[in-house]
Amino acid sequence: MSGTATSSVTISLDDTGKSAKLPLLTGSLGPAVADIRKLHADLGIFTYDPGYGGTAACESKITYIDGDEGVLLHRGYPIAQLAEQSTFLEVGYLLLHGELPNAQENRDFVAQITNHTLLHEQLRHFYNGFRRDAHPMAIICGVVGALSAFYHDSLDINDPAHRELSALRLIAKMPTIAGWAFKYAQGMPFVYPRNDLGYAENFLHMMFAMPSEPYKVSPVLARAMDRILILHADHEQNASTSTVRLAGSTGANPFACIAAGIASLWGPSHGGANEAVLKMLNEIGTKDHIPEFIRKVKDKSSGVKLMGFGHRVYKNFDPRAKIMQATCHEVLGELGIKNEPLLELAVELEKIAIEDEYFVSRKLYPNVDFYSGIILKAMGIPTSMFTVLFAVARTVGWISQWKEMIEEPGQRIGRPRQIYTGSPQRDFVPLHQRG
Ligand code: ACO
Repeated sequence: MSGTATSSVTISLDDTGKSAKLPLLTGSLGPAVADIRKLHADLGIFTYDPGYGGTAACESKITYIDGDEGVLLHRGYPIAQLAEQSTFLEVGYLLLHGELPNAQENRDFVAQITNHTLLHEQLRHFYNGFRRDAHPMAIICGVVGALSAFYHDSLDINDPAHRELSALRLIAKMPTIAGWAFKYAQGMPFVYPRNDLGYAENFLHMMFAMPSEPYKVSPVLARAMDRILILHADHEQNASTSTVRLAGSTGANPFACIAAGIASLWGPSHGGANEAVLKMLNEIGTKDHIPEFIRKVKDKSSGVKLMGFGHRVYKNFDPRAKIMQATCHEVLGELGIKNEPLLELAVELEKIAIEDEYFVSRKLYPNVDFYSGIILKAMGIPTSMFTVLFAVARTVGWISQWKEMIEEPGQRIGRPRQIYTGSPQRDFVPLHQRG
Protein backbone atom coordinates (compact mmCIF):
# COMPACT_ATOMS: atom_id res chain seq x y z
CA MET A 1 0.00 0.00 0.00
CA SER A 2 1.39 3.43 -0.79
CA GLY A 3 0.63 6.58 1.21
CA THR A 4 -2.87 7.62 0.20
CA ALA A 5 -4.25 11.13 0.06
CA THR A 6 -7.28 11.23 2.34
CA SER A 7 -7.68 14.96 2.79
CA SER A 8 -5.68 18.12 2.27
CA VAL A 9 -4.29 21.14 4.03
CA THR A 10 -4.31 24.60 2.49
CA ILE A 11 -1.52 27.03 3.14
CA SER A 12 -1.62 30.63 2.05
CA LEU A 13 1.05 33.29 1.78
CA ASP A 14 0.14 36.37 3.82
CA ASP A 15 2.07 38.71 1.51
CA THR A 16 0.62 37.63 -1.81
CA GLY A 17 -2.67 36.03 -0.84
CA LYS A 18 -1.68 33.05 -3.02
CA SER A 19 -2.51 29.63 -1.60
CA ALA A 20 -1.76 25.98 -2.29
CA LYS A 21 -3.67 22.85 -1.41
CA LEU A 22 -1.36 20.15 -0.07
CA PRO A 23 -2.64 16.56 -0.11
CA LEU A 24 -2.48 14.89 3.31
CA LEU A 25 -1.06 11.40 2.90
CA THR A 26 -1.74 8.64 5.39
CA GLY A 27 0.22 5.43 5.79
CA SER A 28 -0.94 2.30 7.61
CA LEU A 29 0.11 3.76 11.01
CA GLY A 30 1.29 7.14 12.20
CA PRO A 31 0.26 10.73 11.65
CA ALA A 32 -0.78 12.19 8.32
CA VAL A 33 1.93 13.81 6.24
CA ALA A 34 1.52 16.95 4.12
CA ASP A 35 2.76 16.32 0.59
CA ILE A 36 4.79 19.42 -0.25
CA ARG A 37 6.18 18.22 -3.58
CA LYS A 38 4.31 20.87 -5.57
CA LEU A 39 4.77 23.65 -3.02
CA HIS A 40 7.66 25.29 -4.80
CA ALA A 41 5.93 25.13 -8.17
CA ASP A 42 2.68 26.53 -6.71
CA LEU A 43 3.97 29.15 -4.29
CA GLY A 44 7.70 29.51 -5.05
CA ILE A 45 8.72 28.55 -1.50
CA PHE A 46 10.58 25.66 0.11
CA THR A 47 10.18 24.26 3.61
CA TYR A 48 12.87 24.57 6.29
CA ASP A 49 13.49 21.63 8.61
CA PRO A 50 17.12 21.31 9.76
CA GLY A 51 17.63 17.92 11.36
CA TYR A 52 14.53 16.70 9.46
CA GLY A 53 12.52 16.47 12.70
CA GLY A 54 9.23 16.98 10.88
CA THR A 55 9.95 15.69 7.41
CA ALA A 56 9.26 12.28 5.90
CA ALA A 57 11.90 11.71 3.22
CA CYS A 58 10.56 8.41 1.94
CA GLU A 59 7.80 5.86 2.12
CA SER A 60 8.75 2.61 3.85
CA LYS A 61 7.11 -0.66 4.87
CA ILE A 62 9.96 -1.89 7.03
CA THR A 63 9.92 -0.32 10.50
CA TYR A 64 7.40 1.72 12.44
CA ILE A 65 8.18 3.76 15.56
CA ASP A 66 5.73 5.58 17.79
CA GLY A 67 8.09 7.59 19.95
CA ASP A 68 5.43 8.82 22.37
CA GLU A 69 4.16 5.33 23.09
CA GLY A 70 7.55 3.59 23.01
CA VAL A 71 6.49 1.34 20.11
CA LEU A 72 8.95 -0.25 17.68
CA LEU A 73 7.61 -2.63 15.05
CA HIS A 74 9.51 -4.45 12.33
CA ARG A 75 7.15 -5.33 9.48
CA GLY A 76 4.41 -5.06 12.11
CA TYR A 77 6.00 -7.30 14.76
CA PRO A 78 6.82 -5.71 18.17
CA ILE A 79 10.54 -5.62 18.95
CA ALA A 80 10.04 -7.36 22.32
CA GLN A 81 8.42 -10.39 20.64
CA LEU A 82 11.17 -10.58 18.06
CA ALA A 83 13.92 -10.20 20.67
CA GLU A 84 12.41 -12.89 22.86
CA GLN A 85 11.14 -15.40 20.32
CA SER A 86 13.13 -15.14 17.14
CA THR A 87 16.72 -15.10 15.92
CA PHE A 88 18.76 -12.36 14.29
CA LEU A 89 18.72 -14.11 10.91
CA GLU A 90 14.95 -14.58 11.07
CA VAL A 91 14.65 -10.86 11.75
CA GLY A 92 17.07 -10.23 8.90
CA TYR A 93 14.91 -12.26 6.54
CA LEU A 94 11.84 -10.42 7.80
CA LEU A 95 13.37 -6.99 7.22
CA LEU A 96 14.69 -7.93 3.81
CA HIS A 97 11.70 -9.87 2.48
CA GLY A 98 8.73 -8.50 4.40
CA GLU A 99 7.54 -11.75 6.03
CA LEU A 100 8.90 -14.13 8.62
CA PRO A 101 10.45 -17.16 6.89
CA ASN A 102 8.77 -20.56 7.10
CA ALA A 103 10.97 -23.44 8.25
CA GLN A 104 12.30 -24.20 4.75
CA GLU A 105 12.88 -20.54 3.90
CA ASN A 106 14.70 -20.11 7.19
CA ARG A 107 16.96 -23.11 6.51
CA ASP A 108 17.71 -21.80 3.00
CA PHE A 109 18.44 -18.27 4.25
CA VAL A 110 20.73 -19.51 7.02
CA ALA A 111 22.52 -21.76 4.50
CA GLN A 112 22.95 -18.90 2.03
CA ILE A 113 24.33 -16.58 4.69
CA THR A 114 26.62 -19.31 5.99
CA ASN A 115 27.94 -19.86 2.46
CA HIS A 116 29.06 -16.28 2.15
CA THR A 117 30.87 -15.73 5.44
CA LEU A 118 34.38 -16.04 4.01
CA LEU A 119 36.16 -12.98 2.65
CA HIS A 120 38.13 -12.93 -0.57
CA GLU A 121 41.65 -13.89 0.57
CA GLN A 122 43.11 -10.70 -0.87
CA LEU A 123 40.92 -8.64 1.45
CA ARG A 124 43.17 -9.88 4.27
CA HIS A 125 45.91 -7.60 2.94
CA PHE A 126 43.78 -4.53 3.55
CA TYR A 127 44.09 -5.07 7.27
CA ASN A 128 47.88 -4.94 7.14
CA GLY A 129 47.64 -1.45 5.67
CA PHE A 130 46.15 -0.13 8.91
CA ARG A 131 48.10 0.82 12.01
CA ARG A 132 47.54 -1.60 14.87
CA ASP A 133 45.97 1.20 16.89
CA ALA A 134 43.50 2.13 14.13
CA HIS A 135 39.93 2.49 15.37
CA PRO A 136 38.05 -0.65 14.23
CA MET A 137 35.33 1.60 12.77
CA ALA A 138 37.98 3.08 10.46
CA ILE A 139 38.97 -0.44 9.45
CA ILE A 140 35.48 -1.75 8.78
CA CYS A 141 34.50 1.41 6.92
CA GLY A 142 37.49 0.88 4.62
CA VAL A 143 37.10 -2.87 4.22
CA VAL A 144 33.35 -2.72 3.54
CA GLY A 145 33.90 0.01 0.94
CA ALA A 146 36.57 -2.21 -0.60
CA LEU A 147 34.09 -5.08 -1.06
CA SER A 148 32.87 -3.28 -4.18
CA ALA A 149 36.30 -3.89 -5.70
CA PHE A 150 36.00 -7.63 -5.06
CA TYR A 151 32.47 -8.65 -5.90
CA HIS A 152 31.91 -7.28 -9.38
CA ASP A 153 29.39 -10.02 -10.11
CA SER A 154 26.79 -8.42 -7.84
CA LEU A 155 27.13 -4.69 -8.56
CA ASP A 156 24.32 -4.18 -11.07
CA ILE A 157 21.78 -2.47 -8.83
CA ASN A 158 19.10 -2.83 -11.52
CA ASP A 159 19.32 -6.62 -11.41
CA PRO A 160 17.23 -8.12 -8.55
CA ALA A 161 19.53 -11.17 -8.37
CA HIS A 162 22.55 -8.90 -7.92
CA ARG A 163 20.77 -6.89 -5.22
CA GLU A 164 19.90 -10.08 -3.36
CA LEU A 165 23.42 -11.45 -3.65
CA SER A 166 24.98 -8.20 -2.42
CA ALA A 167 22.58 -8.16 0.54
CA LEU A 168 23.47 -11.75 1.47
CA ARG A 169 27.17 -11.04 1.12
CA LEU A 170 27.02 -7.98 3.30
CA ILE A 171 25.02 -9.65 6.08
CA ALA A 172 27.24 -12.74 5.93
CA LYS A 173 30.61 -11.00 5.79
CA MET A 174 30.09 -8.28 8.37
CA PRO A 175 30.88 -10.50 11.39
CA THR A 176 34.04 -11.75 9.67
CA ILE A 177 35.12 -8.21 8.78
CA ALA A 178 34.39 -7.03 12.33
CA GLY A 179 35.95 -10.09 14.00
CA TRP A 180 39.14 -9.58 12.04
CA ALA A 181 39.26 -5.87 12.91
CA PHE A 182 39.14 -7.00 16.55
CA LYS A 183 41.91 -9.56 16.09
CA TYR A 184 44.04 -7.13 14.13
CA ALA A 185 44.02 -4.59 16.97
CA GLN A 186 45.22 -7.30 19.35
CA GLY A 187 47.95 -8.54 17.03
CA MET A 188 46.34 -11.98 16.99
CA PRO A 189 45.80 -14.35 14.07
CA PHE A 190 42.56 -14.04 12.17
CA VAL A 191 40.04 -16.76 12.94
CA TYR A 192 38.08 -18.04 9.95
CA PRO A 193 34.29 -18.43 10.14
CA ARG A 194 32.89 -21.82 11.07
CA ASN A 195 29.84 -22.91 9.14
CA ASP A 196 28.57 -25.22 11.86
CA LEU A 197 27.95 -22.29 14.21
CA GLY A 198 25.01 -19.89 14.41
CA TYR A 199 25.42 -16.28 13.31
CA ALA A 200 26.06 -14.72 16.73
CA GLU A 201 27.97 -17.79 17.91
CA ASN A 202 30.26 -17.58 14.90
CA PHE A 203 30.82 -13.89 15.51
CA LEU A 204 31.88 -14.54 19.11
CA HIS A 205 34.03 -17.43 17.88
CA MET A 206 35.86 -15.20 15.39
CA MET A 207 36.49 -12.63 18.11
CA PHE A 208 37.54 -14.92 20.94
CA ALA A 209 38.80 -18.25 19.55
CA MET A 210 42.52 -18.84 19.05
CA PRO A 211 43.97 -21.28 16.51
CA SER A 212 46.08 -22.76 19.30
CA GLU A 213 43.29 -24.08 21.50
CA PRO A 214 39.64 -25.16 21.37
CA TYR A 215 37.06 -22.53 22.20
CA LYS A 216 33.45 -23.15 23.17
CA VAL A 217 31.01 -20.27 22.86
CA SER A 218 28.66 -20.01 25.84
CA PRO A 219 25.05 -20.48 24.63
CA VAL A 220 23.91 -17.75 27.06
CA LEU A 221 26.39 -15.29 25.61
CA ALA A 222 25.56 -16.34 22.05
CA ARG A 223 21.89 -15.77 22.77
CA ALA A 224 22.65 -12.40 24.37
CA MET A 225 24.71 -11.37 21.35
CA ASP A 226 21.93 -12.52 19.03
CA ARG A 227 19.48 -10.39 21.02
CA ILE A 228 21.77 -7.36 20.92
CA LEU A 229 21.95 -7.79 17.15
CA ILE A 230 18.14 -8.01 16.91
CA LEU A 231 17.74 -4.85 19.01
CA HIS A 232 20.02 -2.92 16.66
CA ALA A 233 18.84 -4.44 13.38
CA ASP A 234 16.84 -1.50 12.09
CA HIS A 235 15.45 1.76 13.33
CA GLU A 236 13.60 3.48 10.54
CA GLN A 237 15.08 6.64 8.98
CA ASN A 238 17.85 7.44 11.51
CA ALA A 239 21.02 9.29 10.48
CA SER A 240 22.97 6.29 9.19
CA THR A 241 20.01 4.73 7.37
CA SER A 242 19.21 8.07 5.77
CA THR A 243 22.87 8.28 4.76
CA VAL A 244 22.64 4.85 3.13
CA ARG A 245 19.47 5.88 1.30
CA LEU A 246 20.93 9.20 0.18
CA ALA A 247 24.12 7.56 -1.09
CA GLY A 248 22.04 4.81 -2.72
CA SER A 249 19.72 7.31 -4.39
CA THR A 250 22.63 8.28 -6.66
CA GLY A 251 22.91 4.73 -7.96
CA ALA A 252 26.07 4.00 -5.96
CA ASN A 253 26.76 0.30 -5.37
CA PRO A 254 25.47 -1.25 -2.11
CA PHE A 255 28.91 -1.87 -0.61
CA ALA A 256 29.80 1.82 -1.01
CA CYS A 257 26.42 2.79 0.46
CA ILE A 258 26.89 0.60 3.54
CA ALA A 259 30.39 2.06 4.01
CA ALA A 260 28.74 5.50 4.03
CA GLY A 261 26.25 4.23 6.64
CA ILE A 262 29.13 2.98 8.80
CA ALA A 263 30.76 6.42 8.64
CA SER A 264 27.53 8.06 9.72
CA LEU A 265 26.99 5.58 12.54
CA TRP A 266 30.41 6.29 14.00
CA GLY A 267 29.48 9.63 15.62
CA PRO A 268 28.86 9.80 19.40
CA SER A 269 25.34 11.15 18.91
CA HIS A 270 24.45 7.95 17.06
CA GLY A 271 26.20 4.58 17.21
CA GLY A 272 29.13 5.86 19.20
CA ALA A 273 26.87 6.45 22.21
CA ASN A 274 27.42 3.13 24.03
CA GLU A 275 31.15 3.71 23.90
CA ALA A 276 30.50 7.20 25.29
CA VAL A 277 28.28 5.78 28.08
CA LEU A 278 31.09 3.63 29.37
CA LYS A 279 33.55 6.51 29.19
CA MET A 280 31.07 8.65 31.11
CA LEU A 281 30.53 5.98 33.80
CA ASN A 282 34.27 5.61 34.23
CA GLU A 283 34.65 9.35 34.56
CA ILE A 284 31.89 9.57 37.16
CA GLY A 285 33.67 6.79 39.01
CA THR A 286 31.55 6.37 42.13
CA LYS A 287 27.94 6.92 43.14
CA ASP A 288 28.76 9.90 45.34
CA HIS A 289 29.91 11.80 42.23
CA ILE A 290 26.51 11.44 40.51
CA PRO A 291 24.91 14.63 41.91
CA GLU A 292 27.90 16.70 40.78
CA PHE A 293 27.75 15.06 37.34
CA ILE A 294 24.01 15.72 37.02
CA ARG A 295 24.65 19.36 37.97
CA LYS A 296 27.14 19.60 35.11
CA VAL A 297 24.73 18.02 32.65
CA LYS A 298 22.08 20.60 33.56
CA ASP A 299 24.54 23.43 33.10
CA LYS A 300 24.31 23.98 29.35
CA SER A 301 27.61 25.86 29.27
CA SER A 302 29.44 22.68 30.38
CA GLY A 303 28.64 20.88 27.13
CA VAL A 304 28.24 17.66 29.16
CA LYS A 305 25.41 15.29 28.20
CA LEU A 306 24.07 12.28 29.99
CA MET A 307 25.11 9.74 27.37
CA GLY A 308 22.69 6.90 26.72
CA PHE A 309 19.78 9.20 27.55
CA GLY A 310 17.46 10.93 25.16
CA HIS A 311 16.34 10.08 21.67
CA ARG A 312 15.16 12.06 18.70
CA VAL A 313 12.05 9.92 18.39
CA TYR A 314 11.37 8.15 21.72
CA LYS A 315 9.86 10.60 24.15
CA ASN A 316 8.43 8.11 26.63
CA PHE A 317 10.75 5.13 26.76
CA ASP A 318 12.95 3.22 24.35
CA PRO A 319 11.44 -0.29 24.16
CA ARG A 320 14.88 -1.67 23.35
CA ALA A 321 16.37 -0.28 26.57
CA LYS A 322 14.16 -2.49 28.76
CA ILE A 323 15.20 -5.67 26.93
CA MET A 324 18.81 -4.54 27.04
CA GLN A 325 18.62 -4.05 30.81
CA ALA A 326 17.26 -7.60 31.28
CA THR A 327 19.94 -9.00 28.95
CA CYS A 328 22.56 -7.16 30.98
CA HIS A 329 21.54 -8.98 34.16
CA GLU A 330 21.50 -12.35 32.31
CA VAL A 331 24.98 -11.85 30.92
CA LEU A 332 26.47 -10.75 34.23
CA GLY A 333 24.78 -13.75 35.86
CA GLU A 334 26.23 -16.17 33.29
CA LEU A 335 29.68 -14.70 33.71
CA GLY A 336 29.39 -14.85 37.49
CA ILE A 337 29.95 -11.10 37.77
CA LYS A 338 28.42 -9.88 41.01
CA ASN A 339 28.37 -6.30 42.17
CA GLU A 340 29.69 -4.90 38.88
CA PRO A 341 30.47 -1.30 39.89
CA LEU A 342 29.67 0.17 36.48
CA LEU A 343 26.27 -1.56 36.43
CA GLU A 344 25.50 -0.34 39.94
CA LEU A 345 26.54 3.14 38.91
CA ALA A 346 24.36 2.97 35.77
CA VAL A 347 21.33 1.77 37.77
CA GLU A 348 21.77 4.57 40.30
CA LEU A 349 22.32 7.18 37.59
CA GLU A 350 19.18 6.04 35.78
CA LYS A 351 17.18 6.11 39.02
CA ILE A 352 18.25 9.66 39.81
CA ALA A 353 17.87 10.95 36.26
CA ILE A 354 14.38 9.59 35.60
CA GLU A 355 13.11 11.39 38.69
CA ASP A 356 14.90 14.65 37.98
CA GLU A 357 12.79 17.53 36.63
CA TYR A 358 15.40 18.41 33.95
CA PHE A 359 15.12 14.98 32.32
CA VAL A 360 11.41 14.47 33.00
CA SER A 361 10.38 17.78 31.46
CA ARG A 362 12.51 17.14 28.36
CA LYS A 363 11.25 13.57 28.08
CA LEU A 364 14.75 12.13 28.29
CA TYR A 365 14.83 8.40 29.07
CA PRO A 366 17.53 5.71 28.80
CA ASN A 367 18.03 4.64 25.22
CA VAL A 368 19.24 1.29 23.85
CA ASP A 369 22.85 2.27 24.46
CA PHE A 370 22.59 2.94 28.17
CA TYR A 371 23.06 -0.73 29.12
CA SER A 372 24.56 -2.28 26.00
CA GLY A 373 28.06 -1.02 26.80
CA ILE A 374 28.06 -2.75 30.17
CA ILE A 375 27.00 -6.05 28.57
CA LEU A 376 29.64 -5.84 25.89
CA LYS A 377 32.34 -4.90 28.38
CA ALA A 378 31.38 -7.88 30.55
CA MET A 379 31.70 -10.13 27.47
CA GLY A 380 35.30 -8.96 27.08
CA ILE A 381 34.65 -6.71 24.10
CA PRO A 382 36.69 -3.50 24.18
CA THR A 383 34.82 -0.20 23.93
CA SER A 384 36.29 0.62 20.52
CA MET A 385 34.39 -2.42 19.16
CA PHE A 386 30.97 -1.35 20.47
CA THR A 387 29.97 0.69 17.45
CA VAL A 388 31.35 -2.04 15.21
CA LEU A 389 28.86 -4.49 16.72
CA PHE A 390 26.12 -1.99 16.08
CA ALA A 391 27.25 -1.76 12.45
CA VAL A 392 27.19 -5.56 12.10
CA ALA A 393 23.58 -5.60 13.30
CA ARG A 394 22.41 -2.52 11.41
CA THR A 395 23.79 -3.79 8.09
CA VAL A 396 20.65 -5.90 7.74
CA GLY A 397 18.46 -2.83 8.24
CA TRP A 398 20.57 -0.64 5.97
CA ILE A 399 20.55 -3.12 3.12
CA SER A 400 16.80 -3.76 3.49
CA GLN A 401 16.14 -0.02 3.36
CA TRP A 402 18.51 0.38 0.40
CA LYS A 403 16.79 -2.47 -1.46
CA GLU A 404 13.35 -1.05 -0.74
CA MET A 405 14.43 2.33 -2.07
CA ILE A 406 15.98 0.95 -5.26
CA GLU A 407 12.85 -1.13 -5.91
CA GLU A 408 10.53 1.84 -5.51
CA PRO A 409 9.05 2.95 -8.85
CA GLY A 410 10.02 6.51 -9.73
CA GLN A 411 12.91 6.56 -7.23
CA ARG A 412 14.85 9.85 -7.53
CA ILE A 413 18.18 11.13 -6.33
CA GLY A 414 17.93 12.69 -2.84
CA ARG A 415 18.67 16.40 -2.94
CA PRO A 416 17.70 18.62 0.03
CA ARG A 417 17.39 22.39 -0.43
CA GLN A 418 18.78 25.16 1.78
CA ILE A 419 18.23 28.69 3.02
CA TYR A 420 21.16 30.59 1.59
CA THR A 421 22.52 33.12 4.11
CA GLY A 422 25.82 33.92 2.38
CA SER A 423 26.88 36.96 0.43
CA PRO A 424 24.71 38.24 -2.42
CA GLN A 425 26.31 38.14 -5.87
CA ARG A 426 29.47 40.26 -6.09
CA ASP A 427 32.32 40.76 -8.55
CA PHE A 428 35.66 39.00 -8.32
CA VAL A 429 38.54 41.19 -7.08
CA PRO A 430 41.97 40.22 -8.43
CA LEU A 431 44.48 39.23 -5.74
CA HIS A 432 46.71 42.30 -6.12
CA GLN A 433 43.73 44.61 -5.56
CA ARG A 434 42.55 42.95 -2.30
CA GLY A 435 43.39 44.83 0.92
N1 ACO B 1 21.76 14.91 28.29
C1 ACO B 1 21.38 16.17 28.66
N2 ACO B 1 20.49 16.92 27.99
C2 ACO B 1 19.96 16.40 26.89
C3 ACO B 1 20.29 15.10 26.44
C4 ACO B 1 21.24 14.35 27.18
N3 ACO B 1 21.59 13.12 26.81
N4 ACO B 1 19.62 14.84 25.31
C5 ACO B 1 18.87 15.93 25.05
N5 ACO B 1 19.09 16.87 26.01
C6 ACO B 1 18.42 18.17 26.14
C7 ACO B 1 18.89 19.16 25.07
O1 ACO B 1 20.00 19.90 25.52
C8 ACO B 1 17.66 20.01 24.90
O2 ACO B 1 17.55 20.87 26.00
P1 ACO B 1 16.89 22.34 25.85
O3 ACO B 1 15.46 22.08 25.43
O4 ACO B 1 17.03 22.96 27.17
O5 ACO B 1 17.69 23.04 24.77
C9 ACO B 1 16.50 18.99 25.05
O6 ACO B 1 17.03 17.95 25.88
C10 ACO B 1 16.02 18.44 23.74
O7 ACO B 1 17.07 17.77 23.11
P2 ACO B 1 17.39 17.82 21.59
O8 ACO B 1 18.83 18.22 21.39
O9 ACO B 1 16.35 18.58 20.83
O10 ACO B 1 17.25 16.30 21.22
P3 ACO B 1 17.60 15.68 19.84
O11 ACO B 1 16.41 14.92 19.40
O12 ACO B 1 18.14 16.68 18.88
O13 ACO B 1 18.81 14.72 20.21
C11 ACO B 1 20.02 12.86 20.89
C12 ACO B 1 18.67 13.38 20.45
C13 ACO B 1 21.12 13.26 19.88
C14 ACO B 1 19.98 11.35 20.94
C15 ACO B 1 20.35 13.46 22.28
O14 ACO B 1 19.35 13.12 23.19
C16 ACO B 1 21.72 13.01 22.79
O15 ACO B 1 22.74 13.58 22.39
N6 ACO B 1 21.75 11.95 23.68
C17 ACO B 1 22.99 11.45 24.17
C18 ACO B 1 23.68 10.62 23.12
C19 ACO B 1 23.02 9.27 22.93
O16 ACO B 1 22.75 8.57 23.88
N7 ACO B 1 22.78 8.92 21.67
C20 ACO B 1 22.20 7.63 21.30
C21 ACO B 1 20.92 7.80 20.60
S1 ACO B 1 20.21 6.23 20.27
C22 ACO B 1 21.06 5.62 18.98
O17 ACO B 1 21.64 6.29 18.14
C23 ACO B 1 21.12 4.19 18.88
